Amino acid sequence: MVKMDGNNFIFFLTICVLSWRMELLKAQMVPAVYVFGDSLVDVGNNNFLPVSFAKANFPHNGVDFPTRKPTGRFCNGKNAADFLAEKLGLPSSPPYLSLSTNNITSHLTGVSFASGGAGIFNSTDRVFGQAIPLSDQVDDFMSVNKILMKLGSSAAQNQTSKSLFAFVIGSNDLFDYFGSSNLRKQKTPQQYVDLMVTTLKQQLMRLYAVGARRFFSAGVGAIGCIPLERVINKNHGCNAENNFWAVKYNDGLKGSMR
Ligand SMILES: *[C@@H]1O[C@H](CO)[C@@H](O)[C@H](O)[C@H]1NC(C)=O
Ligand SMILES: *[C@@H]1O[C@H](CO)[C@@H](O)[C@H](O)[C@H]1NC(C)=O
Ligand SMILES: *[C@@H]1O[C@H](CO)[C@@H](O)[C@H](O)[C@H]1NC(C)=O
Repeated sequence: MVKMDGNNFIFFLTICVLSWRMELLKAQMVPAVYVFGDSLVDVGNNNFLPVSFAKANFPHNGVDFPTRKPTGRFCNGKNAADFLAEKLGLPSSPPYLSLSTNNITSHLTGVSFASGGAGIFNSTDRVFGQAIPLSDQVDDFMSVNKILMKLGSSAAQNQTSKSLFAFVIGSNDLFDYFGSSNLRKQKTPQQYVDLMVTTLKQQLMRLYAVGARRFFSAGVGAIGCIPLERVINKNHGCNAENNFWAVKYNDGLKGSMR
């Protein structure tokens, strides 16, 4: 059983699937971190979505951020993506939607494509209406890759192959399943988590095909222990079924990365 200990970053590290030693990567010169995922790592992309309910650019979010202002992070301070970049000696990857396509420099130390509410499946964000699903996030990297090509193709290849591609996604797909009697009728939980794994892997393979070689994929946490679950649970304990399938998903993810 995965145990959420309240420290997002420790959690992020301990259940990472391809566990690179961060210090080692730093020594090997990681030029950039490209981040894909959901609200755990969104650094402000959803601020730019015209009709999304999944936004966080208002108080009291950001009270513990260095600027003390809300940024769009679903968090009081820095999130896991910020700490990951920090560990690698890089600035936080800026939100993709905040960047100008004319400015190559702003894409060189990393870009975040993450979007609160997003899932591995296209259909997962429908509750929020306007998150950016994973396949679109990967499309967005393909646009960045075209910008990097302006450096010349061998320098761009070098950049892509040495950069870290980090994924923190999957919780929303599981919430979606457990909240939908329709989905439960269509698939067993095992079939559903298996499909999550293969769909995520398809996206990793698209990046591999354009030269990405360093991947970091976090499993999902103990989603049955989020406050909402505990409030609706009669004894205010965690939802054991949700936690069980989160672990099953993580096992599948680990297996698929070998
Ligand atoms: C390749 O990228 C690394 C890391 O950014 C850099 O140190 C190195 O100079 C680059 N090599 C070439 C040939 O561009
Ligand atoms: C391009 O991006 C860099 C890094 O984000 C920034 O320092 C610079 O001011 C930008 N240049 C222009 C012309 O906006
Ligand atoms: C998800 O949507 C993209 C377009 O945004 C499409 O290319 C892709 O085939 C869709 N994937 C699935 C599994 O429906």
